Amino acid sequence: MKKILVVLGGGRPNGNTKQLADAFIKGAAKAGHQTELISLNKLHVNGCTGCNACRYGKPCVQKDDFNSLIPKIKETDLIVFASPLYFWTISSKIKAFIERFYCIAEKDEHPPLGRYEKYPVRDCALLMTSADNFFWTFEQAVSYYQFTLVNYIGFHDKGMLLAGGCGDTNGKPQISQTDYLEQAFTFGRCIY
Ligand SMILES: Cc1cc2nc3c(=O)[nH]c(=O)nc-3n(C[C@H](O)[C@H](O)[C@H](O)COP(=O)(O)O)c2cc1C
Repeated sequence: MKKILVVLGGGRPNGNTKQLADAFIKGAAKAGHQTELISLNKLHVNGCTGCNACRYGKPCVQKDDFNSLIPKIKETDLIVFASPLYFWTISSKIKAFIERFYCIAEKDEHPPLGRYEKYPVRDCALLMTSADNFFWTFEQAVSYYQFTLVNYIGFHDKGMLLAGGCGDTNGKPQISQTDYLEQAFTFGRCIY
């Protein structure tokens, strides 16, 4: 049994992305894992301000909801980032959440090439939805995920599900007309 934290970065309350996250969670729960969904729509998580107080032994100066998420991040085995595609990348809510990882970094005397500090090592996965469905639709989001979460922070990639062609937000969510919910269930069931 693994602990899985699904971080939903915006989107409509029962939109494509929430449905995709729910299907993943159902699959993971079926496999016996402990799951929790956190909706950043319901929390207040600012981006980092770069004050660097955390580099001098102080907790983050921002007293927002990120502080209550730190224990969850440290205890979980897997963080699943679930986001609608906004302007060809992850939503600003997910970006702000990731920026705040800066305050949980620790000093690393011998960091690997290209990294300056040590982060809690976790597994990660990416779930995304979009209106378009071109071969390049998710390119920037995937690039960000790989550069930041996998290469820099050092998380272990467990895979991604990129659900293109789910309709725009000027209409009802259309993901149920695709087979992505089934794929997300299987992804969750087989994640470990
Ligand atoms: C602000 C905004 C920006 C968007 N940018 C893109 C985009 O760059 N490419 C795309 O294919 N869809 C884009 N979309 C459409 C959404 O990604 C798509 O409808 C998604 O499935 C919505 O997720 P939700 O149903 O969870 O809200 C955008 C929607 C909004 C509201």
